[in-house]
Amino acid sequence: RTFTIAAIPADGVGTEVVAAGRAVLDALAAGSGGRFAFDWTEFPWGCGYYEKTGRMMDEDGLEALQDFDALYFGAVGWPSVPDHISLWGLRLRICQSFDQWANVRPVHFHPGITSPLRKADDTPLDWVVVRENSEGEYAGLGGRNLAGRGPGNEVALQTALFTEKGCERIMRFAFDLARGRERKKVSSVTKSNAQQYGMVLWDEVFERVAADYPDVETESVLVDAMSAKFVLHPEDLSVVVASNLNADILSDLGSALAGSLGLAASANLNPDRRFPSMFEPVHGSAPDIAGQGLANPIGAIGSAALMLEHFGLADEATRVREAIEATTASGLLTPDVGGTAKTDEIVEAILTHLA
Ligand code: NAI
Ligand code: MG
Repeated sequence: RTFTIAAIPADGVGTEVVAAGRAVLDALAAGSGGRFAFDWTEFPWGCGYYEKTGRMMDEDGLEALQDFDALYFGAVGWPSVPDHISLWGLRLRICQSFDQWANVRPVHFHPGITSPLRKADDTPLDWVVVRENSEGEYAGLGGRNLAGRGPGNEVALQTALFTEKGCERIMRFAFDLARGRERKKVSSVTKSNAQQYGMVLWDEVFERVAADYPDVETESVLVDAMSAKFVLHPEDLSVVVASNLNADILSDLGSALAGSLGLAASANLNPDRRFPSMFEPVHGSAPDIAGQGLANPIGAIGSAALMLEHFGLADEATRVREAIEATTASGLLTPDVGGTAKTDEIVEAILTHLA
């Protein structure tokens, strides 16, 4: 069958890594003997579009996207546009409008890439951050200049929103994911000692949901302690479920521990499948290296593998991951992980391993 995909490369290295992911998916389809195909539509939205039109995406952009089988996203943000405008105008707008409430961010370690975590005994490390992606600290609630005070005295409020239903669905998602893994364990992350309303609700829902999964081990860890645990005892992690902000930070930490932000893949899922899901690397637009062919495409290509799984093409997803690992194991690496290879060379090598 033919899967329709909307590509939204957006800004900076987003355009470079989306092109890389497309090349890999197109090669897979070409080799599938007609079993499956990908029909791409590219959307020009992003900061350049904003500078021309005053909008990050078309007004009817969500309608234009809603019937695709999946969205493949690069990264949004450029120094010429305030980050809160670009992020809210495109990526967060899509995630929230399409109720992509589960953001899955595997922390995956690649052969041939040095991690600051690799232990002497070489314990295999592999965990996944499940991020609540629809509410929490990124609910967008609050306001500026609330007390009507003048310059120098402004008061701003930024509120986090936690709903029982929102907490419950992301936790069930995390537990279901854990059941399919070798280590059946879910670690819940909050700061409920200091944030006594929403995060205490989170803790209570976690306990209640955990009771339905007696076969899954659990723990509740405060976010500051969890950031230490990522570094000191990562072998004790399997599925880590956290609120929007906490998981955002922890997943960047996880990808850095695996060697680079450029390696990390992610899926913004609408598990109900009422709306399209969106697949994107964890990293941003990397203005410091954009346009030089230096971007590590592995995060974006790994995200394409998550998209293949979403399409029910699990064997193809495995083939892509094996091709990525064969490439890193061969020592062909981009500068962010200590090599000198260009984006294109990585893609070529992955295509060769796929063939
Ligand atoms: P960033 O992720 O763009 O860059 C952080 C560091 O990681 C930089 O040194 C960069 O060179 C490096 N890096 C990132 N991706 C890489 C790759 N594929 N290969 C090699 N090195 C890579 O984060 P930063 O600098 O905080 O943000 C830059 C812009 O991106 C901002 O406008 C920000 O708002 C936006 N952003 C967008 C995201 C998204 O669209 N999902 C996520 C994070 C940031
Ligand atoms: Mg982030």
